[in-house]
Amino acid sequence: MSAPSTTDYDSYIHEPNNRELGHIPGEYGLPIIGQTIPFLRDPYEWAKRQHKKFGLLSRVNTAGSNGVLALGPDLMQQIMLDPGRDFSSKMGFMDNVSKFFSDSLIMEDFEHHKHQRRILQAAFKNDALKTYTADINRIYDRALAEWANDSGQTILFFDYIKNLLLEVAAEIFVGETERGERVEKLNQAFSDCVAGTMYMVPYNIPGTRLYKGLKGKAYLERFFTELVPRKRNAANMDGEQKGQDMLSHVCREKDEDGDYYTDKEIANQMIFLLFAAHDTTTAAITHTIYYLARNPEIKQKLYDECLAIGKDNLEHEDLNNVPYMQQVFNEVQRLRPSAPMVPRRTIREVDMLGHSVPAHTMVYIFPRFSHCMPEYWSDPESFDPDRFSPERAEHKQHPFLFHPFGGGAHKCIGMHFSQMEYKCFIYKFILNFDFESQHRKEPKMMTLPIPRPADKMPIRLIRR
Ligand code: HEM
Repeated sequence: MSAPSTTDYDSYIHEPNNRELGHIPGEYGLPIIGQTIPFLRDPYEWAKRQHKKFGLLSRVNTAGSNGVLALGPDLMQQIMLDPGRDFSSKMGFMDNVSKFFSDSLIMEDFEHHKHQRRILQAAFKNDALKTYTADINRIYDRALAEWANDSGQTILFFDYIKNLLLEVAAEIFVGETERGERVEKLNQAFSDCVAGTMYMVPYNIPGTRLYKGLKGKAYLERFFTELVPRKRNAANMDGEQKGQDMLSHVCREKDEDGDYYTDKEIANQMIFLLFAAHDTTTAAITHTIYYLARNPEIKQKLYDECLAIGKDNLEHEDLNNVPYMQQVFNEVQRLRPSAPMVPRRTIREVDMLGHSVPAHTMVYIFPRFSHCMPEYWSDPESFDPDRFSPERAEHKQHPFLFHPFGGGAHKCIGMHFSQMEYKCFIYKFILNFDFESQHRKEPKMMTLPIPRPADKMPIRLIRR
């Protein structure tokens, strides 16, 4: 069966972005580049300044595009729940990611999106998650045994975890269990593709990031186009041969009419899935190591919680038995959200906090602002996992105050998977290694493309 009718899309996807926002308080910054430099330098400080001068909704210009900056939990709720179908995710992401992830979930709206989301949901059911948990623990064992050779050395933690999660992606997402040239090429193509999304020179000529990124994307398309039919055949086999990787689950899934999804649909969704999964979890784990290295008493409390579980692995049934680790995860996401900016575009004129925002206007949501509003959070800039404890529960003061995984129709499909991947790693790592920060001074924190300490988080690794 084909996807639902495109009539709805036709009404807005061909319209250019609205640039007429003079009636909304705010400023555009310098000619041509607008506020791109202060935004790139420190998006959080930039958002705070906008708020101080103009309030929770203001007009801005970043990367040559006029739009509105939407801050605070009320606007977040309005945009994410979107009961009036006023906001398009497809058009929000159009300028930046469409070259790389054109037919992905995030680039679909409403019925189209629902239809495509069903494809991926097959890979995130409870039984599938159980199998991934066991496999991930096995991969972590293999990697940490190798990391042990570096005990006593200073390592760049970001590079280590980035590579390890690429190995996880190759095996769990795609079923590539053999390490070697094929997996290396896959990982390289994927990394080029991700770097390509941050292109500055908008020309597809050799030597540019865009060129390399698009080459990476073409490789991924060939890789999946060749693999999907094979997986589909294997998907119909029984027993041992029936693949348990994400791609196999997706290949077995049928649509509302009982038909399989097309090879192209699956290939496109899988490429985006790799993208959505990898950098976000890499950032979450890297920042956790950053904060734990700076807060020895929190690291000790987490270590004690893990020790009390008394097993080599955190298994599927243990995932809810580490409440302090969950608080640490939440606190990391509060201060350093893995998805720092979420874009949308209005489909029609919309009232936002009393301002009339015209149709086809870019809207930028900035979660970290809500995550640090002093009206809601005590000492908001400090790292304090206990603020998420049942006694304090600061995040519960508004349903959209803390929303690292988004909300509504586009809420992160990998929310449970990512926390499993995170918890299994932190558990095993902290039980096997101690670590010390090697920062001589406070590192610069990057927000884009992957939020992380700019120096890649050097730590001294100590085998316990
Ligand atoms: C710490 C880890 C992660 C965070 C903080 C995170 C955050 C988010 C957020 C905020 C969105 C919503 C974007 C929007 O509304 O425009 C999202 C969507 C998405 N995420 Fe995640 N994510 C994480 C990990 C993952 C993982 C591990 C996967 C896959 C295994 C994944 C797959 C997706 C997909 C496919 C979407 C698009 C959903 C849709 O459009 O329906 N994410 N994520």
